[in-house]
Amino acid sequence: MSHASQNAATIPRWLPLVGGVFSSTTCGALLYAWSVFIKPLNADFGWSRADIALAFAICCLVFGLMTYPAGRLSDKYGARIVVFIGGAILCAGFVLSGFIESKTQLYITYGLVAGFGGGLVYLPPIATAPKWWPDHRALATGFAVVGLGLGSFIMAPLATYIIQNYGWRSVFIYVGAAMGVMAILASFTLKTPPAGWKPAGFNPVVPTSGGRETRDFTYQETFKTAQFWMLYVAYFCGSFAGLMVIGHIAGHGIDRGIEPMKAAGAASWLAIFNAAARVLIGIIGDKIGVKKSFVGIFALQVAAMALLYPAGYTYWALWMVAALIGWNYGSMFTLFPATCIQFFGITSQGTNYGLLFTSWGLAGFAGPYVGGWLKDSTGTYLAPFVVGAVVVAISVIIIALVKAPEKKHA
Ligand code: 2OP
Repeated sequence: MSHASQNAATIPRWLPLVGGVFSSTTCGALLYAWSVFIKPLNADFGWSRADIALAFAICCLVFGLMTYPAGRLSDKYGARIVVFIGGAILCAGFVLSGFIESKTQLYITYGLVAGFGGGLVYLPPIATAPKWWPDHRALATGFAVVGLGLGSFIMAPLATYIIQNYGWRSVFIYVGAAMGVMAILASFTLKTPPAGWKPAGFNPVVPTSGGRETRDFTYQETFKTAQFWMLYVAYFCGSFAGLMVIGHIAGHGIDRGIEPMKAAGAASWLAIFNAAARVLIGIIGDKIGVKKSFVGIFALQVAAMALLYPAGYTYWALWMVAALIGWNYGSMFTLFPATCIQFFGITSQGTNYGLLFTSWGLAGFAGPYVGGWLKDSTGTYLAPFVVGAVVVAISVIIIALVKAPEKKHA
């Protein structure tokens, strides 16, 4: 690292990566282990699955919609303050969920408040970590989202243990406090590098177009491109299908006659590969190109969705297909932000990707609901999985066709 850039940077650049792992782990614990609360809440209050699922759907929607203001605020004021405040709100919402006595209270504390805080914590590291790693942007993005897989992987057994020994209220209270500490610690690592900062020895050719220097898109320019909205539809379709399956994979195994413990194993394999993919696809994307990796994972996802119903005939086939689905699903959360930087530049990444990610919030609301509805009306999971395969096929076509927009002239 050159002397000047080292002085200006003032923090080692691996620190925002550690911060990204911490902050994303809190979001993973918030979102992807929700199913562990279904049984105890049903036992204590007699609420139906649909009632309990609604708290999760509200949380996804609010989390997803908050990422736009979170990204905008992060571009304007820096990631640190946004993640700090978000961590405090997330902590308050999760801890208060330990004291609820009615569904409405749960929808407010877990759905609205914790979802709101989670969205503020999730987005800013995705916009900040790659600024420190212009030489490995997809990989840095992977670190900022890896905890979504890790958090669910750790949280599911931890919460099950706490529920069995101390009750579900303790999970919300103790894990909520830990989430707050982790997110607030993460916020201190999320410094924005000085404008134009580069690591030593990294001297890329300045992109030019028609012999003229180019600059990044502003967020207003980004939102006017067809490419942005093509990515939006592709993100919605990929998330819709993935979230539909994640909520139902264990139920599908049990329906097809697999023992419940083994069927639940499918969800664990999905979580492990969901976590691993986020970093590994970053390495692959930086090496072979983001677009190639993208078309590859979406095409694989169509195949995996199509195989999911027949795979229910035996547990090991279900585990393999679940792992593949987790891999492809997790990859999206590295490849979409990386594509967004490639197309529109890093300057407004918080705002650009914040809006792009709202598609996930809409899918998080719609996917599990449509999946449950199709299963109830047809009697099996065949229809939801076929619909999932068709919907992801739309993403394959879009990603294969979409090209980076014309560069903006400086
Ligand atoms: C992710 O898994 C929150 O679903 C989003 O990164």
